[in-house]
Amino acid sequence: MTQTSRAVRIHANGGPEQLVIDNLSVGEPGPGEVRIRHHAIGLNFIDVYQRSGLYPNTMPLSLGMEGAGVIEAVGEGVTHLKVGDRAAYAANPPGSYCDLRVMPAMNVCQLPDAIDFETGAAMMLKGLTAMYLLKRCPPVEGLHPGDFVLFHAAAGGVGLIACQWAKALGLRLIGTAGSDDKCALAREHGAEFTINYRSEDFAARVKEITGGKGVKVVYDSVGKDTFDKSLDCLRSFGLMVSFGNASGPVAPFAPGILGPKGSLYVTRQTLFTHITSRERTQAMADELFAVVASGAVKIRIDQRFALTDVRAAHRSLEARQTTGCTILLP
Ligand SMILES: NC(=O)c1ccc[n+]([C@@H]2O[C@H](COP(=O)([O-])OP(=O)(O)OC[C@H]3O[C@@H](n4cnc5c(N)ncnc54)[C@H](OP(=O)(O)O)[C@@H]3O)[C@@H](O)[C@H]2O)c1
Repeated sequence: MTQTSRAVRIHANGGPEQLVIDNLSVGEPGPGEVRIRHHAIGLNFIDVYQRSGLYPNTMPLSLGMEGAGVIEAVGEGVTHLKVGDRAAYAANPPGSYCDLRVMPAMNVCQLPDAIDFETGAAMMLKGLTAMYLLKRCPPVEGLHPGDFVLFHAAAGGVGLIACQWAKALGLRLIGTAGSDDKCALAREHGAEFTINYRSEDFAARVKEITGGKGVKVVYDSVGKDTFDKSLDCLRSFGLMVSFGNASGPVAPFAPGILGPKGSLYVTRQTLFTHITSRERTQAMADELFAVVASGAVKIRIDQRFALTDVRAAHRSLEARQTTGCTILLP
C-alpha cells in the first residue's frame, strides 16, 4: 500500500527559504527497514549544515536526522521492532522532517513507555552525542570525578544535556554561552561555572577558575570562533574534542602548535562513527534511557514549531535564539 507524506526538502543549498514541503509517496519497507509514523521530530544544527551545503549531499535532499513515533510496518529480517512499537532514533540518511518514512531499522530503538514522543524526538541525537563525548572519547589520562572540562554552547540542545550528565559523573563543567541568561540556564542544569564568551575572554577566565592549570578536555562545537583560544584552555596532555561548526568550520592548522601548548591531543568526532551497528546503538541508547528515566538528565524542550513553520525554526536556531532542544510537530 502506498501512502503520501509531507516531507521538508531542499532542491538547492542555501538559506531557510530553500526549505519546501513536498508530497512524497511512501511504500512498504524492504529488508532491514521499517516504516515509522512520526509524532515529533528533532531539530539539530547538522540540519543547518546540510541545508547550507557545508555538509554536501545530493539533491533533492529530505532533511532531519532525529524523530520519534510508531512503527507501522517492518521489513524482512528486522527482529528488534514490531508493528505498533513506540520508537525513536538518531540516524542517517537524513529525512525525518516528514509525517512518515521508510528507513533503515538499525538505529531505530524501542522507546521506553516512561519517555514521551516529544522527549524521544528531542533527545536521541543530542543525548547520544553528549553520552559519547563524556563517556566514549576520554583524554589520555582518563576522565575522573573532580576533573575540570570546558563545554562551549552549554545552554544549547547538546549543551544542557551535557551539563547535567557531566554533573552526574562528578565532573566540574565550565560552560560558555552567548548571554548572561543562557549562562544562568547552564548553571541551573549543572555547570559549576559559566562564561559569557561574547563579553568575557574565556581562556583567561578558564585559567583563573582552574588556578592556572587548565582543563582536561574542551568540547568545542562552535568551531571557527573558539577553536584557537580553546587550545589555550587545556592543561598538559589535554584533549581538544572538536565536534561542530556553529560559527563556521575550523581553519587548517599546523600540528606543530600543539607541542609548546602542552603536548595536546586533538580529535574531530561524529556520532555516526559511534552508532555503526545495532548493538552499539542499543547499548548507547540504553544508557541514555536510563539516565533520563533516573531524572539525572532532564530533556528540556524550549521551542516547538509546526512542521510547516520549519523555516522559522531554522532561523531561530541559526540566530542563537534557542536554548535546550527544539522539535517540529507534524
Ligand atoms: N559531531 C557530532 O557528533 C555532533 C552531534 C550533535 C551535535 N553536534 C554539534 O553540536 C552543536 C550543538 O548542536 P545543537 O543541535 O544542540 O545546537 P545548539 O547548541 O542548540 O545551537 C547552537 C549554539 O551554538 C552557539 N553558537 C556560537 N556561535 C554561533 C554562531 N556564529 N551561529 C550560531 N550559533 C552559534 C549558540 O549558542 P550561544 O548563543 O550560547 O553561543 C547556539 O545556540 C552544533 O555545532 C552541532 O553541529 C555535533
